Formats: sequence, C-alpha cells, structure tokens
Amino acid sequence: MSTKPPASVPSSVRIAPAEDVDQDALCALYDAVGWSTYTHEPTQLLAAIRGSDFLVTAVEGDLLIGLARAISDDSSIAYVQDILVRPTHQGQGVGRLLLTAVLDRYKHVRQKVLLTDDRPEQLQFYASMGFKNTRDLTKTPLNAFVIIEGASLG
Ligand SMILES: CC(C)(COP(=O)(O)OP(=O)(O)OC[C@H]1O[C@@H](n2cnc3c(N)ncnc32)[C@H](O)[C@@H]1OP(=O)(O)O)[C@@H](O)C(=O)NCCC(=O)NCCS
Repeated sequence: MSTKPPASVPSSVRIAPAEDVDQDALCALYDAVGWSTYTHEPTQLLAAIRGSDFLVTAVEGDLLIGLARAISDDSSIAYVQDILVRPTHQGQGVGRLLLTAVLDRYKHVRQKVLLTDDRPEQLQFYASMGFKNTRDLTKTPLNAFVIIEGASLG
C-alpha cells in the first residue's frame, strides 16, 4: 500500500495578502477552474474582489495561480468566499496555505462559514481544514439557508 506524501508548495509560489488584482489575471484564473458565471461579468467579479474584506493571492512569477477571499465584520463572523487554485497547481498545498491565511487572519472570530458544491474533493478539502459539514452534525444540529438570485435551487 502506498502512502501519499504530504503536498509541498513549490518555493517559486508566493502567498500573501493582496490589496488588488488585475482584471485579466483574475478572469484567467476563474476561467481556468471553469467558473464562467463570474467571468461573464468581469466588472462585477472585480467589484466582488475589491469589496471583500480580506484577499490573499498565490502568485508564481507574474502568474496568478490562486486566491481566497473573505467577507467579515472582523468580530463575530467571517464568510469564506471563492477559494480557487489553477488546475496546473492543484494538489501541491497551495489551497491549504490560502485557506490557512484566511483562518489566521480571522483567528479571533468565532464563526467561519462557507458554502460549497458537493464534489468529494471539495468536501475533503474543507474537512481536512477543520470545517464541519452542517448536514453531518447530530450533537449540535445546524442548518445553512441560502437564496441565490436567478437560480432555481432544488
Ligand atoms: C479545492 C481547491 C481550492 C483545493 O486546492 P489545492 O491546492 O488543490 O489543495 P491542497 O493541495 O492544498 O490540498 C489540501 C487538502 O485538501 C484535500 N484535497 C485537495 N484536493 C483533493 C482531491 N482532488 N481529492 C481529495 N482530497 C483533496 C486533501 O485533504 C489535501 O490534503 P493532503 O494533500 O494533505 O491530502 C482546488 O482544488 C480548486 O481550486 N478547485 C476548484 C475550485 C473549487 O472547487 N473551489 C472550492 C469550492 S468553493
């Protein structure tokens, strides 16, 4: 039986909080993971990034390879939104470092919340970072409710 070695982030990758990002680089990153709902509205995407309370990026050379962002009152809640890593750079620990940067930034904040799809790798990623899926809670049941304009949720 083989054991998977721990992911190691290449030394050429820089992960750091950022104030802003270039719109074309942003769209290229979001397109790389297939998030076209965002890239159909590049101006809105840039506004979402700029309206975030915390942004951390992963850059290799001059290529934006990943980012994570959060919306927070900096006191009681931090909502983690949009964590993504270019497919060419996934599985190397970049996502873990991005999310760790967000969690460190909001260490003093009690509630950290996020929504994600149902792909096993996404669920495994968040579980590996200490997040609990509300649907698995039995001792302290919680429910997540959501409205997504324009989507018929079912
Ligand atoms: C989810 C995502 C951000 C993870 O980033 P990443 O850099 O590939 O993840 P890491 O290499 O840091 O992996 C961290 C942990 O996540 C889990 N994980 C990551 N990819 C996984 C996969 N394909 N299958 C199973 N577990 C996986 C593992 O537990 C891993 O820890 P390990 O390497 O010690 O086993 C990245 O895959 C991605 O951008 N996906 C597309 C966009 C997306 O779905 N974003 C999240 C939903 S909002």
